[in-house]
Amino acid sequence: MSNTVLALLANHQEWQLVQNDHSLIPDLIEESLRFDSPVLSLMRRVCTDTEIAGVKLPADDFVFPLLGSANHDASQFSDPKRFWVGRKSRAYLSLGSGIHFCLGAQLVRLQARIAFEEIFSTFENFEKADQSPLKYFDSFFFRGVENLQLNFVVKKRTSSVGILKDYRE
Ligand code: HEM
Repeated sequence: MSNTVLALLANHQEWQLVQNDHSLIPDLIEESLRFDSPVLSLMRRVCTDTEIAGVKLPADDFVFPLLGSANHDASQFSDPKRFWVGRKSRAYLSLGSGIHFCLGAQLVRLQARIAFEEIFSTFENFEKADQSPLKYFDSFFFRGVENLQLNFVVKKRTSSVGILKDYRE
């Protein structure tokens, strides 16, 4: 959630786009997962001697695939440094892949969608509360800020409270 808010703060046009059209929230979440992956790396033990891209990997070695880096691979994503809600490629690896693909993936997407629908319906004019540097978790595997304080304006409600919507789909 915080990685997404930070990406939006740095990309005001994308913020306006989603603010004006909430049907783009699922695309916002997908692009945020790619752009600033909360899980940066995995760990794998090599079972048998093998070779990947010309690099020999002896059995019992450990490998740390960098998901965050793969998500910015220019051969998979055009203009990978750009935070772009309209991006169509979903080839990112932030939720893993194969048999260990994240079991919580749909829950994460649903939670984030509900949260951002509420945020965009309730608040506007976000900005960082102060200009002090962000402190990221001290972790090789996870990426996120320890604390993100924001100033915002509460919008006037024109419709019923969104949380009563039916999210079962
Ligand atoms: C944004 C939030 C999340 C991210 C970025 C994320 C990312 C990942 C990644 C990269 C993997 C693959 C691990 C590997 O291959 O070694 C994974 C696995 C897994 N995730 Fe998530 N996850 C998230 C939230 C959740 C939630 C909310 C749940 C449960 C409610 C969950 C449950 C699991 C489980 C059980 C696995 C292991 C699946 C397996 O080994 O077969 N995750 N997740």
